[in-house]
Amino acid sequence: MAEKFHRATFTRNFLKTITRIKNPDEMLAEAKSGGLEKTLGVWDLIILGVGAIIGSGIFAVVGIAAAGNADGSSLGAGPGLVISMIVAAIACVFSALCYSEFATMIPVAGGAYTYTFATLGEFAAWMVGWVLMLEYAIGFIAVACAWSNHFVQFMSGFGVNFPAWLVNDPFSITKIVSENPDTYIPMLGNMPICVNLPAIIIVLLMTAILVKGTKDSAKMAGIMVFVKLAVIALFVITGAFYITPDNWTPFAPNGVEGIFAGAFLIFFAYIGFDALATAAEECKNPQKDLPVGIIGSLIVTTIVYVAVALVLTGMIDTSATVPLDFLKAPMAYCMNIANHRILAGWISLGSLAGLTSVLLVLEMAATRILYAMSRDHFISQRFLKLHPKFKTPAKLTWTVGLLAVVGIFTLNLDVAAELCNYGTFTSFIIVCVAILILRKTDPERPRPFKVPFSPFTPIMGILCCGGLMIYKSMQQSSSALLFPVWLGVGAIIYLLYGFVKNRLNENKIHNEKVEQKKLELNK
Ligand code: ALA
Repeated sequence: MAEKFHRATFTRNFLKTITRIKNPDEMLAEAKSGGLEKTLGVWDLIILGVGAIIGSGIFAVVGIAAAGNADGSSLGAGPGLVISMIVAAIACVFSALCYSEFATMIPVAGGAYTYTFATLGEFAAWMVGWVLMLEYAIGFIAVACAWSNHFVQFMSGFGVNFPAWLVNDPFSITKIVSENPDTYIPMLGNMPICVNLPAIIIVLLMTAILVKGTKDSAKMAGIMVFVKLAVIALFVITGAFYITPDNWTPFAPNGVEGIFAGAFLIFFAYIGFDALATAAEECKNPQKDLPVGIIGSLIVTTIVYVAVALVLTGMIDTSATVPLDFLKAPMAYCMNIANHRILAGWISLGSLAGLTSVLLVLEMAATRILYAMSRDHFISQRFLKLHPKFKTPAKLTWTVGLLAVVGIFTLNLDVAAELCNYGTFTSFIIVCVAILILRKTDPERPRPFKVPFSPFTPIMGILCCGGLMIYKSMQQSSSALLFPVWLGVGAIIYLLYGFVKNRLNENKIHNEKVEQKKLELNK
C-alpha cells in the first residue's frame, strides 16, 4: 500500500531531499491557519524600519568612517563621507527592492529564510536561517553591549561611575586590568568575576516588551524613534551655524579608497530595514504597506545620514588627526566643542534611545525567523505556541533573550559587529539570487510589487554586497576566519539535527497516511 504514497523520506535521494523547495502556497496556507496576529500598519512599519536602522552606526561608527581609525587600520572618507553614505544606501536599495517583491509575494514570517526555502530548497534555507542569526541574534548581543557602553558614558556625565567589573565583559576587563592593574575585580579562586549588568538588564527588558506584543513594541519603538530623530534634528540645525566651509576641502583626503572604506563601515548604519520583511505576517496590508515601509524607512534614513555627514565634516577637519572622543561619539563631541554641553547630553540620551529601538527590532527579527524555522520542523515545535493573552511567541522570545544573556558573558564586541555585517551581506545576496530564480521558476505567481529593471537590479545588489564582502575578506581579521567556521558548524548541525528531525516528521506523516488508508480499505 505504501507505494501509493510518497516513499518514506529516509530512503529518498539525499541531494533531492536537501534541495526540496517549499511551495509558497503551502507557506501562505500555514500562516493563515494559526499564524501571528495582524496588527501593523504602514506607519508602524516605517517607525519599526527607522527604529531598526538608526543606531550605533550614526551615533558612533560615523566618526571612524569620516576620520579613519586611530590605529590607521581604516582610512577615513573625510567630507567625502556624504558620497560613502550614498554608495552604502544604493547598495542597500537594490536588496531592499528585492526584499519588497518577496515580502509582498509571500507575506509570512521568516524573511530571507522563507524566500530561500521557496527557491533554493531545504538545506540552503537552513543555512540562511543560521546566517541570519549572525545578523539578528549576534547583532542583538553586540548592540546590547554598545548600549551598555553608552549608558555608562551617559551616567558618568552625572557623576555616577560604576565599578568596572559590573559593566564589562571578560575581554574588556582583561584589557582594562592590563592598562590599569589597580582596578578592583572580585575573584572566585583564580577567576575574575565580571558581568555586563546594564547589557543584561536591557536585553531582559526588551524581551519582556516583545512578549507583551508586537503592537506595543512598535509603540515603544515609536517613542524611541521620535527621541532620536529630534536629537539628530537639533544637532543638524544647531551644528549648521558652526560649519566652516574650509573643513570641506580637501573633499576626499584619502581618495576613492577612503570613500569606499567609509562606505563599507557605514553600511552597518543601514542594517535593519530587512528586519521589516520578517514581520510580514503581522502586517494588516502587507502587499501595499511593506514596500512603502521598507523603501520609505531607507529614504528617511539616507536623508538623515547625509545631513549629519555634511554638518559633522563641516564642523571639524576630518582630514587631520581627530581626538579619540570624536571617534567614540562624534555628534556629542562636536556639540561640546561648540560649547553646547546640554545639547551634547541630549545627544547621549538620543543615542541610548536609538540603540534601544535597534535592539527591539533585532530581537523581534531573530524570533520571527526561528518561529518560521520551528514551523518547518527544523527546531522544536514547542516554540510555535503563542502566549495565551498576548498572542506572541513568548517561549521563543524568552529563549532568544536568555541565549543573548549567555552571549553577553562570552562575546568579543568587535568580532560580533563584523560577523553581523557578514551575515547581512550573505542574506542580501541570497535574496537577490532568489528573486532571479523565482522569476524563472514561477513567473505566473502574482507579484503585487515587482523589482524594477530586473535582472539588472538584483544583479547590482549581488555585485555591490559581494564586492563589499570580498573587500572585507581581503583584510586580515578574526571575523573573516570565523565566518566560514560559523557556516561549517551550521552545516554540521543541519546534518545531525535539522535534516534528521525533518525526515522523522515526514516519515510520521507518511505512516499516518498509510494507517488511514488501511483503515479506509478495511471498512
Ligand atoms: N543599523 C543599526 C545601527 O546602526 C544596526 O545600530
